[in-house]
Amino acid sequence: MSKSDKYTTIHYHKYLELDALLSLQKPRSTAAGETAHDETLFIIMHQVYELWFKQILTELDSVLLLFREERVREDNMHTVLLRLRRITTIIDLLIEQIRVMETMTPLDFLDFRDYLFPASGFQSVQFRMVEATLGLREEDRITYHGKSYKIVFTEEQQARLHDIETGGSLFELIEKWLERTPFLRFGDFDFLAAYQEAVDRMIGHEQAQISNSQLSDSMKEMRSRMVGDSSTYFKHVLDREEHERMVASGEARLSYDATIAALLINLYRDQPILNIPFNLLTELLNIDEGLTTWRYRHAQMVMRMIGNKIGTGGSSGHDYLARTAEQHKIFRDLHNISSLLIPRSSLPDLPPAVERGLGFHFRNT
Ligand code: HEM
Repeated sequence: MSKSDKYTTIHYHKYLELDALLSLQKPRSTAAGETAHDETLFIIMHQVYELWFKQILTELDSVLLLFREERVREDNMHTVLLRLRRITTIIDLLIEQIRVMETMTPLDFLDFRDYLFPASGFQSVQFRMVEATLGLREEDRITYHGKSYKIVFTEEQQARLHDIETGGSLFELIEKWLERTPFLRFGDFDFLAAYQEAVDRMIGHEQAQISNSQLSDSMKEMRSRMVGDSSTYFKHVLDREEHERMVASGEARLSYDATIAALLINLYRDQPILNIPFNLLTELLNIDEGLTTWRYRHAQMVMRMIGNKIGTGGSSGHDYLARTAEQHKIFRDLHNISSLLIPRSSLPDLPPAVERGLGFHFRNT
């Protein structure tokens, strides 16, 4: 096809390759001469999901490309944001679609389940590519029978997954981008020192109020624990070594510098220059939360369809799937930033020069 073909005409049917697309639903029960009515729905549901996975991968690959540049260009940030938002919207749709699957009753499923064996969503290479591109590492995964999740794939598919896992995931690129945040030290302003002072002040103030209050001793104790102190929630951001110990032990993943930058972006998100970075971090949380919700929702549907039976792919079924929902979160560290936030009223004031640096200044005075 050449550029001049832009001005030729094409029919809807041909443009969408509908002859090919609509001939791809081939129920095995029909081929065996005992058509199970719901098998077509089952096939279409999975095919639609695979198409959406393809779209999600297209968006993710384009975002990765923009983030791989030495310095992420500011004028690309809005495009990145729009594409990540599109992914969140697609995931919302994927969650909603489970309701369509649930119009099939467990008894109807039994009419054709044997024809699937041992096919399973477990063998969806695109789903694994989405997870790996976002940043789920092999060692983060729940395995069963102690085997790699990759063994169900062909050599070529395994090589693709390996390339994704070693080529720099979205998690890793975001981490590097955060580490480059230029505002942690701005002239005389040292963000971390100012934050530490603010945390100490806030904790001192709150603890004094709690101990002077009319609360019972047990309530005072509970309120004090909620506020925390510099040996609890805040310990790892106030102490680089402690954070590095947590990374080494797997309690945290995001590097120290990236964590501090994410904290700064969250605390000062109202500064114009930090709006887009804040929205970007929020979108990553939305994607993570959406996938987690999909995992729970899928696990719930599986419980309804097959109870406690094992899956066609050989896992423990519902039990395995529910555990992945908890364990396969990717941007957990960004969620954990919330335990480090302090009220706006306790935030250190930014020196005017810093505030000017963080603002949009189009004035020509
Ligand atoms: C009647 C409907 C369904 C049932 C009973 C079902 C059952 C299961 C089970 C038991 C597993 C665990 C692996 C195994 O042992 O097989 C699984 C995994 C999976 N299923 Fe489904 N599923 C259904 C529909 C769907 C649909 C519509 C999709 C959309 C693509 C899907 C995607 C997946 C994926 C991606 C996994 C792998 C999850 C992971 O390992 O984290 N499933 N499914």
